[in-house]
Amino acid sequence: MTAEATGAATVSTSTGRTIHPAWVRITHWVNAVAIVMMIGSGWQIYNASPLFAFEFSKTITLGDWLAGALLWHFAAMWLFVVNGLVYVVLGLVTGRFRRKLLPIRPGAVVADMRAALKGQLAHDDLSIYNAVQKLLYLGVILAGVVMVLSGLAIWKPVQLQELTAVLGGYESASYVHFFAMTAIVGFLVIHIVMAFVVPKSLRAMIIAR
Ligand code: HEM
Ligand code: HEM
Repeated sequence: MTAEATGAATVSTSTGRTIHPAWVRITHWVNAVAIVMMIGSGWQIYNASPLFAFEFSKTITLGDWLAGALLWHFAAMWLFVVNGLVYVVLGLVTGRFRRKLLPIRPGAVVADMRAALKGQLAHDDLSIYNAVQKLLYLGVILAGVVMVLSGLAIWKPVQLQELTAVLGGYESASYVHFFAMTAIVGFLVIHIVMAFVVPKSLRAMIIAR
């Protein structure tokens, strides 16, 4: 079915069904808010002792100064972690992850990537993710887990010294934290562009259909 056909006739056709259940939509948008707060405050924390030879512009950071940013970071952390746990636990127990995100075959990723770059990737059935989407979604979920583990390692390096040690020590864990953030920001750029390139996918993530 073409994009035009599914667009206007959504309610009356078989696509009147729910594409994303409420728990996915709610946790998705709560996560979007939480992640913006985590990134904005993280960048401000970074500016207090930059790992690299650049700083983030004050216009895109949250918290004004180091202590303020840390307060934001640790407040939004609860939202991020509790919401993330709800999403991951439900994703596992309902079988959504297995159904929607697996399996990922390298051949399919390459083929879908080629088609996407040529603008030939079909988006007819929004309830099925293509191989590139599967890879990116699974990747960003794992990046979120790495964010939490590395964040805990640099927050409580004494109490959680085993965790910090697994990540190569405090210094190395803070680089892990930084690069996982970079991966998430990279994902977000592509992800948000795609949401507007395929607006009906955005509608489905908001109103389910
Ligand atoms: C949820 C658990 C998290 C905890 C416990 C945590 C904890 C921390 C701590 C303690 C710092 C300060 C490091 C320092 O003093 O140098 C920090 C920095 C930072 N956090 Fe988080 N964080 C978490 C999640 C996140 C998330 C989800 C993001 C963004 C996606 C993020 C982005 C950053 C950035 C950019 C920095 C500054 C750069 C760096 O030091 O690596 N954090 N975080
Ligand atoms: C303003 C920001 C955002 C917009 C406009 C947006 C848009 C969307 C849309 C339209 C979908 C449905 C996708 C599809 O049919 O392929 C989706 C799914 C998804 N998004 Fe976002 N998103 C945003 C922020 C985020 C953030 C911050 C993350 C994580 C770091 C994220 C992770 C995901 C994941 C994992 C899915 C798949 C969910 C599932 O099916 O269980 N999104 N997003």
